[in-house]
Amino acid sequence: MNIHGRHFLKELDFTASEWQYLIELARELKRERAAGAERQRLVGKSIALVFEKTSTRTRCAFEVSAHEQGAHTTYLDPLSSQLGHKESLADTARVLGRMFHGIGYRGFGQDRIETLAAHAGVPVWNGLTDEWHPTQMLADQLTMLEHAPGKELRDVKLAYVGDARSNIGNSVLISGALMGMDMRIIAPAQLQPTAEVQATAKRLSANSSAKIEVTDELSAVDGADFIYTDVWVSMGEAKELWHERLELLRPYQVNATLLRRSGNPAVKVLHCLPSYHDLDTEIGRQLRDMTGASEFEVTNEVFQQHAAIIFDEAENRMHTIKAVLVATLGE
Ligand code: CP
Ligand code: NVA
Repeated sequence: MNIHGRHFLKELDFTASEWQYLIELARELKRERAAGAERQRLVGKSIALVFEKTSTRTRCAFEVSAHEQGAHTTYLDPLSSQLGHKESLADTARVLGRMFHGIGYRGFGQDRIETLAAHAGVPVWNGLTDEWHPTQMLADQLTMLEHAPGKELRDVKLAYVGDARSNIGNSVLISGALMGMDMRIIAPAQLQPTAEVQATAKRLSANSSAKIEVTDELSAVDGADFIYTDVWVSMGEAKELWHERLELLRPYQVNATLLRRSGNPAVKVLHCLPSYHDLDTEIGRQLRDMTGASEFEVTNEVFQQHAAIIFDEAENRMHTIKAVLVATLGE
């Protein structure tokens, strides 16, 4: 498999075999690291990280994996660079492409990363846009494989519950359809993936034999191996939306009752993080002041019970982002 020199902009740009290759490479890199035998494949490479939204996991995953593979990173945000206020994305791309071997980007519309990719002349990697979060999907799928021993992705039943019109909802549906999974996307009608995204998932499932169900019925968690959720309000969304969003999604909280409804006593919970499972965040407290609720997309009880897998998932961001860097840029 050779994806050297390619961009990593969204799941749809890859075949199932290419995607599988990235997961396998991440596994191999994780094993090498654990054995203290990591071979550096990015020595002498320079990587720019252009982040227009905040990040903990994704930024750190890029920086640590690049460092461990021998590359150097430079972090740019709109406040400390000319990006946005003094220089267009296209011109920034043309400058960075002359100095760096690759560019990681996190920001708003997918059109922005497409612009960056069109002008950079070097590989561009998507660290989250409004529409897609593809590096997260590699980590999630690696985590599911690790926590469902003996199963391939096509044997895994995954229920995504919550805001399914977001980057995570879209990416979970499309990456699951690509890999032939049994997918249930459970959300109120207003927050289900668009007709276009659903049609794309159906088209992919014709090749992969994925099972796709998009519904507002919580009973669709029946038999799930994994239940996945994300925050109910994403970065960049207007505060004015919060009240309506919380009212719509309150019945879709991942809590003990929902887990019981799966009928699977061993059902496991995934969360891309960050999470509002308690009031230890400023936004969590603002949401409480607005709505009176103290837990949101997942209860603290369920979050803490499933913390081991959720933080494995967070760690896997590093191994999988490392795989993307090595596959597209490595020696
Ligand atoms: N899951 C994720 O992308 O986390 P960050 O926003 O911290 O990067
Ligand atoms: N949907 C969330 C994902 C964060 C990793 C957001 O965009 O804020």
